[in-house]
Amino acid sequence: TTHSLLLLPGDGIGVETIAEVERLITFFNSKSNTVRFHVERDLVGGAAYDAHGVAITNEAMDKAQQADAVMFGAVGGPKWAGVPYQHRPEAGLLRLRKDLDLFANLRPAICYPALADASSLKRELVEGLDIMIVRELTGGVYFGEPKEIVTLENGEKRAVDTQVYTTHEIERITKVAFDLARKRRNLVHSAEKNNVMRTGVLWKQVATDVHKSYALDVKLEHILADNCAMQLIRNPKQFDVIVTDNLFGDVLSDEAAMMTGSLGMLPSASLGAPDPKTGRRKALYEPVHGSAPDIAGQGLANPIATIASFGMALRYSFDMGKEADLVDTAIARVLDKGLRTGDIMQPGMTKVGTGEMGKAIEAE
Ligand code: NAI
Ligand code: MG
Repeated sequence: TTHSLLLLPGDGIGVETIAEVERLITFFNSKSNTVRFHVERDLVGGAAYDAHGVAITNEAMDKAQQADAVMFGAVGGPKWAGVPYQHRPEAGLLRLRKDLDLFANLRPAICYPALADASSLKRELVEGLDIMIVRELTGGVYFGEPKEIVTLENGEKRAVDTQVYTTHEIERITKVAFDLARKRRNLVHSAEKNNVMRTGVLWKQVATDVHKSYALDVKLEHILADNCAMQLIRNPKQFDVIVTDNLFGDVLSDEAAMMTGSLGMLPSASLGAPDPKTGRRKALYEPVHGSAPDIAGQGLANPIATIASFGMALRYSFDMGKEADLVDTAIARVLDKGLRTGDIMQPGMTKVGTGEMGKAIEAE
């Protein structure tokens, strides 16, 4: 099997952390007789603007459309503060999300035992935590019409945001959640507020309907979103996959992120619709962090968020769950051995740079 992967390192530490993913790809290609990664590379963000005057070229977009998955580093930095708005570095990422129709945002909250003391919660609550928040990304209250601020006759102002969801939008996001649960621990919590919102009523109904074709092996629980926020703090390990709308997902994924320690540890994925021929979903994998201009180019960045994002690509795009487990285990072992980049440094641990961390993970 050949898997095609487009690497878009972007700017700042994106370049350095994607280099560590390339190290792992080279490793996999040299070890496996059955699976091969075919890698393409291109520019995005400020780097693309410097070379071509746009944040991503049409050629790079074509490659992204063709690839089985895209690995994205990070974009932006002070160097591009003055570029025209439509060409700002973020525009590259926004175009990728829009043109690939990446409606599902996956944010795992993983707590490696060695870092459990950096969590906002007690060690016993988060040690070994591994939950996945699936956030609907292209609909809901951030996009619904009308969306306006109007001045009333009495001079008062009235602001309106509108939450809109269609059956189709809820179907496709809940399918993503059930598909993911099958590659995990077979449990999905669907979070909404059907007690006060019509979108919540429809959400619950559609989730229940979609679940029918997964009922043999995946369990579905409905939970009110406010209770979900509370349960995440009370006992996070009760969850496997949480699927929710754009607004609740924004809040719940940030809440969950605080259980895991550093920004340099957080991977993410954005998925689109399945290809009608292959069933494979369009996918973009990226660390949650940005280009970190304050440490860029110095070999100081923590590559784990980007490497863990590659692990997600193995699991969710390439059906290489065993290899994904190897990546996760390697990360956990390297942390257990006491290796730390600056952002996760603790007393008594060994401080390493980006390349040393990447090499240590490869060795494990
Ligand atoms: P940032 O995530 O780049 O950095 C925040 C802080 O965390 C910095 O002190 C940085 O050194 C540290 N940090 C982040 N990732 C790290 C890693 N892997 N290892 C060690 N330390 C790490 O966010 P900030 O500073 O708000 O934004 C910097 C630039 O990145 C801006 O131009 C912003 O627009 C862009 N950005 C891009 C994103 C993307 O490409 N998806 C996301 C967020 C910000
Ligand atoms: Mg947020």
